[in-house]
Amino acid sequence: MTIHPETIFQQFAEHYRRPAEHVVRSPGRVNLIGEHTDYNDGFVLPMAIDRAVWLAGAGREDGRVCIDSLDRQESAEFALADLRQENAGWIEYLKGVAAALSGGGHSLRGFDAVLTGDVPIGAGLSSSAALEMAAARLFLALSDQPWDPVAGALLCQKAENEWVGVNCGIMDQLASGCGRAGQAMRIDCRSLEIEHVPLPPDTAVVVLDTATRRGLAASAYNERRRQCQAAAEQLGVPALRDADLAQLENLADTFDDVVYRRARHVISENARTLEAVRVMRGGDAAALGRLMNQSHASLRDDYEVSCSELDAIAASAREHPACFGARMTGAGFGGCAVALIDAAAAEPFTAETHAAYRRQTGLEPALYVSMPSAGTEVVL
Ligand code: GLA
Repeated sequence: MTIHPETIFQQFAEHYRRPAEHVVRSPGRVNLIGEHTDYNDGFVLPMAIDRAVWLAGAGREDGRVCIDSLDRQESAEFALADLRQENAGWIEYLKGVAAALSGGGHSLRGFDAVLTGDVPIGAGLSSSAALEMAAARLFLALSDQPWDPVAGALLCQKAENEWVGVNCGIMDQLASGCGRAGQAMRIDCRSLEIEHVPLPPDTAVVVLDTATRRGLAASAYNERRRQCQAAAEQLGVPALRDADLAQLENLADTFDDVVYRRARHVISENARTLEAVRVMRGGDAAALGRLMNQSHASLRDDYEVSCSELDAIAASAREHPACFGARMTGAGFGGCAVALIDAAAAEPFTAETHAAYRRQTGLEPALYVSMPSAGTEVVL
């Protein structure tokens, strides 16, 4: 499904009987490497994908925000002056963003909007970060305020942490907000510095959706965060980003086995991510693929956030000769994996990997080539 700005502009006009003032688009993301490193002040290497959340909107003068979700065929609304948590699903993301922006000193206008998109929900492609960033972009566009994607990402992360109650790091909102066509991005999650890095020549990135949905598995995610914190304290460093494997080995005897393995994943994953940027700059797809495979093994064995379906789809992908490497992506426990392949063989790769995974699991996966795309933007 390709979504065109003119179509959603038209849908707004049909619904509200007036023209939209702006159409915004905010992409999902896939992370190539650097998993569970963002909340350890580490490095990540995601790219924004060519699937996005779209909002078309026009301001209202009564301070209400009214949204019609075209995909769910339902509408919801709230008053900016009376923001209350009601656990009513997707609208809470918009309320949380309104609360974070107001708390950050932005004065906001209400609006009418239609919402649509093609980022699968709960698949680990950051549909929620994309929705938050789209909402933030629209709020600021409608009140003529300048847009800084990094500041916007921080406020959206706050919305997710404090309003939605998911204790995520900063990767997803930054990846959605700061994407660039044709490029992945190396993010330093401490300084928030972003460096764009092109994919190796003649390669393509394929998203491999296992057709399992285990959400963010919030309790396991928060438990990993606590274990990392404990490991950093034991190592005497501010965050695991500041430790190396030699330091960990020196103190290995004093560590609980599980906490030791969590730390080993994060420390080695940071090193792999920096190495991935280096080999990508040299155009070395084979080396990048090997690092992706190592990342998967570390997430499976040391960090224990993979599952049998993610292992199966990554293994099926690797069996294909066109595949340089494959790994789970995002928080884990279900959702998607990502593969780097020879672009010329995209069709046989997707067909054969699809068949191999289905044979093995009985599940119907979705595989699609994803182009690195631009970040959150006002398109009309
Ligand atoms: C989720 C979180 C991110 C990050 C990843 C794991 O996507 O939202 O902040 O921690 O998991 O790398």
